[in-house]
Amino acid sequence: MPSPSSSATRNPFTEAETPAVGVALEHLVKDFGSHKVLKDVSFAVSPGEIFVLMGPSGSGKSVLLKQIVGLEAPTSGRVLVDGRDAIDPATREQVRMALVFQSGALFNSLSVYDNLALYPREHRVASEAAIREKVMRALQIISLEDTADKFPSELSGGMKKRVAIARALVMEPQLMLYDEPTSELDPVTSASISEIIATLREEYHVTTIVVSHDRDLALNIADCIGLLIGGELIFNGTPAELRASKDPVITDFLNPKIDLKNPRFKKLAT
Ligand SMILES: Nc1ncnc2c1ncn2[C@@H]1O[C@H](COP(=O)(O)OP(=O)(O)OP(=O)(O)O)[C@@H](O)[C@H]1O
Ligand SMILES: [Mg+2]
Repeated sequence: MPSPSSSATRNPFTEAETPAVGVALEHLVKDFGSHKVLKDVSFAVSPGEIFVLMGPSGSGKSVLLKQIVGLEAPTSGRVLVDGRDAIDPATREQVRMALVFQSGALFNSLSVYDNLALYPREHRVASEAAIREKVMRALQIISLEDTADKFPSELSGGMKKRVAIARALVMEPQLMLYDEPTSELDPVTSASISEIIATLREEYHVTTIVVSHDRDLALNIADCIGLLIGGELIFNGTPAELRASKDPVITDFLNPKIDLKNPRFKKLAT
């Protein structure tokens, strides 16, 4: 793995350069009581890389993201972000991370502008004029400048996802994490979100971790793909290696066949 500071993140707003960060999961275990959700998961993401984590519903993807941003402590093992333990509060002060939540998590009572301005206002990082510049620049990057005065309820699902990405961008992240950024979207809107994620990495070299069920997104924009099934990382490799895999668990996940004679669900007794 390249050293954590071997490439630089260009700040989208100031063009200043800051070191890109690497992420490493080491034997990560997460239990909720007797429920073992993550079972000894290890992988590394190099600075400036796009890593896409795929896996069925309930396999532990969102739980894993929460460990990376330090929202939840692992049961054992650790996550290192730029070589620092993710659960140490100092890490969040030293490394700028932005998580785009599965739900978007916009505040419905605030306009798009105020949703984006919330973080810099709370952290008093800039004057109101400088915040305005950052917010409008972030909206411009995702082509939604004209929504600044709208409220989330006035936006389509795809627009909300883009606004959530813009809100993360205002934090000028060195590490962007996305939880299901294309779920519930039509294929064309999904493709445009994939393009935005890839462009942000391309232009600003932001280290990017995407959790997604979206096969097209993973195969088209990932440098590396991990497949998490039942809390275990059963595959970690390039899109070409994933495509070439003959492992029946992987081929069934990528191309599930609908089999009405042998359905996956248990038939109700008649
Ligand atoms: N705070 C919690 N307390 C107890 N169990 C939890 C908690 N958070 C998650 N879980 C459990 O961990 C498992 C994995 O949840 P997770 O949200 O990571 O799934 P996921 O892979 O993100 O699924 P989806 O694709 O549907 O979003 C689930 O069985 C869930 O019920
Ligand atoms: Mg999830």
